[in-house]
Amino acid sequence: MAQVSLQQVAKTYDKHTVFSGLDLHVRDGECFTLLGPSGCGKTVTLRLIAGFEQPTAGTVAIGPRTVSDPARNLAEPPEARRIGVVFQDYAVWPHRTVLENVAYPLMIQNIPRPELTERVRLAIEQVNLTGLEARLPGQLSGGQQQRVALARALVSRPEVMLLDEPLCNLDAHLREEMRFEIKELQRTTGVTILYVTHDQEIALAISDRLAVMDRAGNIRQTGTPEDIFERPADPFVFAFMGVANFIPVALEGGQAVLPGQDRPLDLDHGLAHTLSTPPPGTQFLACRPSDLEPVRESAQIFGRVRRKNLLGAEIDLRVDLGGTEVRVRQDTRQALEQGLIFEEGDTCGLKLHAAHWFDHAAENGGAA
Ligand SMILES: Nc1ncnc2c1ncn2[C@@H]1O[C@H](COP(=O)(O)OP(=O)(O)O)[C@@H](O)[C@H]1O
Ligand SMILES: [Mg+2]
Repeated sequence: MAQVSLQQVAKTYDKHTVFSGLDLHVRDGECFTLLGPSGCGKTVTLRLIAGFEQPTAGTVAIGPRTVSDPARNLAEPPEARRIGVVFQDYAVWPHRTVLENVAYPLMIQNIPRPELTERVRLAIEQVNLTGLEARLPGQLSGGQQQRVALARALVSRPEVMLLDEPLCNLDAHLREEMRFEIKELQRTTGVTILYVTHDQEIALAISDRLAVMDRAGNIRQTGTPEDIFERPADPFVFAFMGVANFIPVALEGGQAVLPGQDRPLDLDHGLAHTLSTPPPGTQFLACRPSDLEPVRESAQIFGRVRRKNLLGAEIDLRVDLGGTEVRVRQDTRQALEQGLIFEEGDTCGLKLHAAHWFDHAAENGGAA
């Protein structure tokens, strides 16, 4: 298997620069996700690695081999790169059976029949399609069709698999199932996986590490799912990973005062170990809706309920803090048990369980 390394890669189309100095290092055998909003350059990155396109500058290396280096006029062709690719719209051939679809890459390489048969059998087994070899794609579910595409990529024994949003056309249930299977595939084959998506849930679920890219093609943070979720490098990353509250903060003698509050935020009252004091220059407190817990006693923050939405197991509250609306998520059963059901217009006390301090808010609300 192999690592993948992009160094100072630039890609420009006419006058449009997708990125100007991209560094990306995927380790041997890891499942790495490039996560970013639509149009940030994820597919272009995969096309550069696969060799369908050449960088304007910089180098691409797979394992020990430099495969693209425009400064040296070096461009290894795609078929020499030992890469398997599954694109979102890379459809399987509708008039060929599962077996024929998966066998095709080996047929064109003139692999001898006994070896071909064994490798096709193994690839089909690896994606859990054994027994469906004679079916046509039209007789398969969307998830099964994507597995045919995966098997067809695996059968050539690639060192690296590039997956471009392969699950985004599937319904929520299938998506969940498939993400376990992709993870399992990586474990059993040891193949290096580079997965690109705009879906932060998938990225958190399948990645050993991930990189978060912004709209301008800059990588804002690289780390484990826990790093990215718990220790976001900046407001963009925080907002991109889920619903985000950015509450403006005034610092008074080093203490944070939130809108509509008559005293500074008491940081010793919540789950104190998760709350740090705001550093100088803090402008915003960022938190998730689930970090704000409605309470009857020992509240740190007071607001007024503007909207209440019952979502089944959870209640979504919009709470006004001196003109700033924050989103609060309440567990329905717990709210009922504790008699903490609020109505629109009620005053509501909140406890803060986690906070990130930032000197600016996210450019535009992120994924929320
Ligand atoms: N062949 C091309 N010619 C011109 N612009 C392109 C081409 N391919 C991609 N782009 C532009 O590069 C940017 C990144 O595209 P892409 O990598 O497809 O984004 P995504 O992150 O959604 O996969 C977009 O602004 C897109 O319009
Ligand atoms: Mg894309």
